[in-house]
Amino acid sequence: MTYRILIADDSDAIRDVLREALVDEGYDVSEAASGDEVLAEFNGNEDPKPDLVLMDIRMPGKDGLEVLRTLRLSRDAELPIIVMTAFGSASTAIEAMKLGAFDYIAKPFELEEVTVTVERFFERQDLSDRVVRLIAESNRDEILIGDSPVMQDVYKTVGRVARSDATVLVSGETGTGKELVATVLHRNSTYSAGPLIKVNCAALPETLLESELFGHEKGAFTGAVAQRKGRFELANKGTIFLDEVGEMTLSTQKKLLRVLQEREFERVGGTNSIKVDTRVVAATNKDLPREIDAGNFREDLYYRLNVIAIELPPLRERRSDIPLLVEHFLNKHRYGRGSAPARISQEAMSRLLAHDWPGNVRELENTIERAVIMARGGIIAADHVTFPGQETRRPVDVTQAIADGTTLDAFLKDMESRYLREALRQAGDSQTVAAGLIGIDPEELRHRIERTELS
Ligand SMILES: Nc1ncnc2c1ncn2[C@@H]1O[C@H](COP(=O)(O)OP(=O)(O)OP(=O)(O)O)[C@@H](O)[C@H]1O
Ligand SMILES: [Mg+2]
Repeated sequence: MTYRILIADDSDAIRDVLREALVDEGYDVSEAASGDEVLAEFNGNEDPKPDLVLMDIRMPGKDGLEVLRTLRLSRDAELPIIVMTAFGSASTAIEAMKLGAFDYIAKPFELEEVTVTVERFFERQDLSDRVVRLIAESNRDEILIGDSPVMQDVYKTVGRVARSDATVLVSGETGTGKELVATVLHRNSTYSAGPLIKVNCAALPETLLESELFGHEKGAFTGAVAQRKGRFELANKGTIFLDEVGEMTLSTQKKLLRVLQEREFERVGGTNSIKVDTRVVAATNKDLPREIDAGNFREDLYYRLNVIAIELPPLRERRSDIPLLVEHFLNKHRYGRGSAPARISQEAMSRLLAHDWPGNVRELENTIERAVIMARGGIIAADHVTFPGQETRRPVDVTQAIADGTTLDAFLKDMESRYLREALRQAGDSQTVAAGLIGIDPEELRHRIERTELS
């Protein structure tokens, strides 16, 4: 599809230059020589409306700010408008942004700056269209965002297994979306008419966990004053989500194994066997094979749980998903009720792309939520993006690195990129300051940044 851009400027010469450049880039172009003509384009009955307007602020009749104000009255979302202001009129530019313009370009401009800004607008538009479409398709708040190849694989598996009753083990670091995947699985499964019952196996001591899972008979233990149904019973015809399954004691693991094998169990203190038809989804952020070797997890239970494995990759291994996730969270965490989503500057986005995300998607979501507040719902600048507790990140584990088969080169490259990233962070992203901090000259720093592919 070809986008149509309206160029609004009272100078014929400027319109000519812009038209030529934008036509070269493959856009359809139309022109307006006054503010009234721009308004006529938007308010007239003729469709389609322009996809984007490049608008001079100073025009005869209604000027650019008045056009923005008028359009603002009829829509509260961001306007598809990039304004052009004379160099040095920062306050006008800020006013235009407040009124909902997408960006501004100072005159005189380089053509390249114009085409890059235009391209950025359409990229951004494309992202938000996709988020809107995904939300509409899923019809719910719980949606899985991300289209990196690894996430595509995850979706395929979710789609394939949703209609079976196979047990699924979801693994991944903290905050990678294990619970979300379990929810999406349930919603798309043949069990979706039934309940989704969640149990956090790490939250309770052994006896309480067993009574929580299997229920108990009256008098089974001190305090069991009445019979109580367990989560497995409640999850009949639905899904039970066993979160942090790696934290179960060996004795509870044995009981769980029996449920998985025979689909029946007894309440604590009871003798009647109870049958259930329940889809089991388990999650863990532990490396279960390693736990098996250490004698903490039953191998037979592992195979029963791991019929279908869904492994969620850490966010730092799928950075290409970050822009779409950011768009999603900006949409989700509005500054006030009914306010338009906040927006993010290129500098802030670069910071997000460079971060290591030890807390994965949850950390990204929290970072965005915080940044929206810091920016008061306006444009998120680089210093609105903060990472509390960054100092206490993953320690360096040389023994583990060698055991994992990490080569010396890969290890050093990883260290170097973490070191440089932290230096840049402490230097407020100034390369000159960062170079001073770590005792190399800026030229070398630039070289190393390029080599470690961090920017
Ligand atoms: N792919 C994704 N798309 C959209 N939101 C996501 C995605 N992955 C995670 N989230 C969001 O990030 C937050 C953390 O996800 P979730 O609770 O599922 O992680 P988890 O793997 O269960 O973490 P933990 O191991 O700490 O329990 C949630 O708010 C979830 O909605
Ligand atoms: Mg979880």
